[in-house]
Amino acid sequence: MDDGESDKALEWREGDMPYSTRFGDHFYARSDGRAECAHVFIAGNGLPDRWRGRDAFTIAELGFGTGLNFLETWRQWREHCHPSARLRFVSFEAFPLRAAEMLRALGQWPQLESLAAALARAWPVDPPDTIGLDFDDGVRLEVHIGHALDRVSGWKETADAWYLDGFAPARNPEMWSPELMQAVFDHTVAGGGFATYSAAGWVRRNLAAAGFEVKKQSGFAGKRDMSVGVRPA
Ligand SMILES: C[S@@+](CC[C@H](N)C(=O)[O-])C[C@H]1O[C@@H](n2cnc3c(N)ncnc32)[C@H](O)[C@@H]1O
Repeated sequence: MDDGESDKALEWREGDMPYSTRFGDHFYARSDGRAECAHVFIAGNGLPDRWRGRDAFTIAELGFGTGLNFLETWRQWREHCHPSARLRFVSFEAFPLRAAEMLRALGQWPQLESLAAALARAWPVDPPDTIGLDFDDGVRLEVHIGHALDRVSGWKETADAWYLDGFAPARNPEMWSPELMQAVFDHTVAGGGFATYSAAGWVRRNLAAAGFEVKKQSGFAGKRDMSVGVRPA
């Protein structure tokens, strides 16, 4: 494992809280990123209920970051799913962190310790265009490195559920553009959907214009609203 810094835009705040100076934003809620992931992305997509009875399920994500969302999803998958079922977690990331950086950020959650260690062991020092890692419990991780719009547009498959996690829309509008929201919709199965912490009007309009039926739900930890949506069957 290489301990060097991968990204000069990564800063550590309040101890081990990763912060991007490129985007002027934290990677997750400062109060508890794991609880935020469980509320916004996992419950927001109707999981684990939608896993029930499925022998394969694909989740896609904009912004892999520290891998927190992947690891919390994997943890819940182990708790709820039959050992023969398969989870594919596909993420799109322009600025991959290094394993040591992920471990530093993830160190605050003992519940994720062994999964984070497995991810760090398998994470390449020099990431290729596409990282593909097979773990225990029928879990496969794929991370497509590059600009999300290019990589999602070129992706040949579809997801049952999307996690839209590309920093705050005001700070990173490219990750919420009409073109990218259309590409997300085009890569969603009928009856599948998305969840995000954002309730910004223009983001919701981009998602609705792409074809999603968009709804508001209560946000995490005092945030009034977040957004979820379904691709009509
Ligand atoms: C809020 S963080 C994601 C947090 C992450 N899901 C986690 O579990 O730690 C947003 C991520 O989006 C990435 N990103 C920002 N703009 C991007 C773009 N245009 N294409 C791909 N990735 C991008 C950033 O590098 C960052 O890792």
